Amino acid sequence: MEEMKKLVAREALKFVEDDMVVGLGTGSTTAHFIRLLGKLVMEEELEVYGLPTSYQARLLALESGIPVVGLDEVDAIDIAVDGADEVDPAMNLIKGRGAALTMEKIIDYRAGQFIVLVDESKLVERLGQKMPVPIEVIPAAWRAIAEEIEVFNATAELRMGVHKDGPVVTDNGNFILDARFEHIEDPLDLEMELNNIPGVVENGIFADIADVVLVGTPEGVKRMER
Ligand code: A5P
Repeated sequence: MEEMKKLVAREALKFVEDDMVVGLGTGSTTAHFIRLLGKLVMEEELEVYGLPTSYQARLLALESGIPVVGLDEVDAIDIAVDGADEVDPAMNLIKGRGAALTMEKIIDYRAGQFIVLVDESKLVERLGQKMPVPIEVIPAAWRAIAEEIEVFNATAELRMGVHKDGPVVTDNGNFILDARFEHIEDPLDLEMELNNIPGVVENGIFADIADVVLVGTPEGVKRMER
């Protein structure tokens, strides 16, 4: 599995050019990409700026020697490279296992080219098949939203910390609900509907924004493209 992640991370380096602003995704697959990018920047003396989607990506970028910038410091984002939890045949995604979905969407959505790195275990016929949809919510509203989500034939659970007592708190100071839907018919529609609920900050459906998906398989990297 790690080998497949490294393989796609290496392939993604081919999209990087001198003088680019590169959105840096969160998770174990993009962690490989960030480390490799750091090496490339040093070896080739490239002028590349990393725009992190989380504290995880920021720390790793700094450790890897990539100059880090904020969204309010750049005119445009050339590419964003990020992982995903599920990818359907139309390249719609579920993201947010690592609770970084809001900043990921803010950056991935605005990138000139959004490149997704996954291993083949993430490919599904229909979104929601294996993973819940993470929803970042304002803490005071978590219970009300968990109940309101039932109208979508879904059940939502407050995500609890593993090495922390109590709920997971995101980089933005919010809670995460993990929502399991019986059937996601139209990902774009559900993405919009969820964001219309007052108190929802963002949800982990990324419909219609991926430009390229690099899939790591034992036979090598397969590419899905729009
Ligand atoms: C972070 O919140 C997520 O969206 C990750 O990008 C996603 O979970 C992929 O992570 P892995 O590469 O670790 O599977």
